[in-house]
Amino acid sequence: DDIVTRMKNVEMIELGPHRMKPWYFAPYPQEMVNLPCIYICEFCLKYRKSRKCLERHVIKCNLRHPPGNEIYRKETISFFEIDGRKNKVYAQNLCLLAKLFLDHKTLYYDTDPFLFYIMTVFDHRGFHIVGYFSKEKESTEDYNVACILTLPPYQRKGYGKLLIEFSYELSKFEGKTGSPEKPLSDLGLLSYRSYWAQTILEILLSIKPVGENEKPQITINEICELTSIKKEDVISTLQNLNLINYYKGQYIVTLSKEIMQQHYKAMETRKIRIDSKALHWTPKD
Ligand code: COA
Ligand code: NA
Repeated sequence: DDIVTRMKNVEMIELGPHRMKPWYFAPYPQEMVNLPCIYICEFCLKYRKSRKCLERHVIKCNLRHPPGNEIYRKETISFFEIDGRKNKVYAQNLCLLAKLFLDHKTLYYDTDPFLFYIMTVFDHRGFHIVGYFSKEKESTEDYNVACILTLPPYQRKGYGKLLIEFSYELSKFEGKTGSPEKPLSDLGLLSYRSYWAQTILEILLSIKPVGENEKPQITINEICELTSIKKEDVISTLQNLNLINYYKGQYIVTLSKEIMQQHYKAMETRKIRIDSKALHWTPKD
């Protein structure tokens, strides 16, 4: 790509009740990008040049949720699974929209090898897209997420972590460990580090000692199995948190009061969680 095509090219988008200022370039057709605003249908993600055009579309558009199967519902949160081959137009429009907030190059047209998991919040008007992640149908590198996005109006409210938690829940159902595709953006890395730390601390604090005067024991592999977090991410998290110590010839994990207090405080703000009982899904093959 040359420099010109990579410059931010869309002024503004309107999606349902939200107006958003794009962060990055996205390859919308040339006739769309010179307008003050692109109007996007919040359910099918088709784009139009004016509010009038979109209103005409909305009359015909019967969708009140993303296409595909609703595989999770708990209270107002749902997840829809979309096959990039079967719902190509939707998947392409989703990738276009997402590119406005993703810096690195992604595929917009060849959506066939991907599944898309759309998270929505429900109200009387329908199931409104909050964010999504994509996932390769087959990953040779054990990636369980390709791209992940919370739409800007919903950011910093815990939805990103909910998307991440869901991606690991799918990996648990598959009986595999997984990791997000690299490179991660700064915001992506922050979110993953925080998710990994909380998830691993939750496990460490839940294990009970076998005997009365013994210390609780767990191996790295057991942490991986319980969380579906890939081994190298578990190790880097323990290292980042500075929990690993070498004592009497072996590596041990020590949790300070301070770390525990920080953890309990952070978990208070994590009110919405994924409930595996609300997931109705079986991995393909
Ligand atoms: N500045 C500092 N910290 C931030 C932040 C920001 N702008 N945005 C999120 N965080 C931190 C939060 O504080 C939180 O950590 P904490 O609970 O330990 O405080 C953690 O990241 C997750 O926050 P959460 O609200 O669950 O995430 P989100 O809904 O804002 O979504 C992303 C996180 C990464 C999905 C979102 O920023 C995004 O879509 N970014 C653009 C696309 C992108 O970069 N995707 C990743 C590509 S690999
Ligand atoms: Na990505």
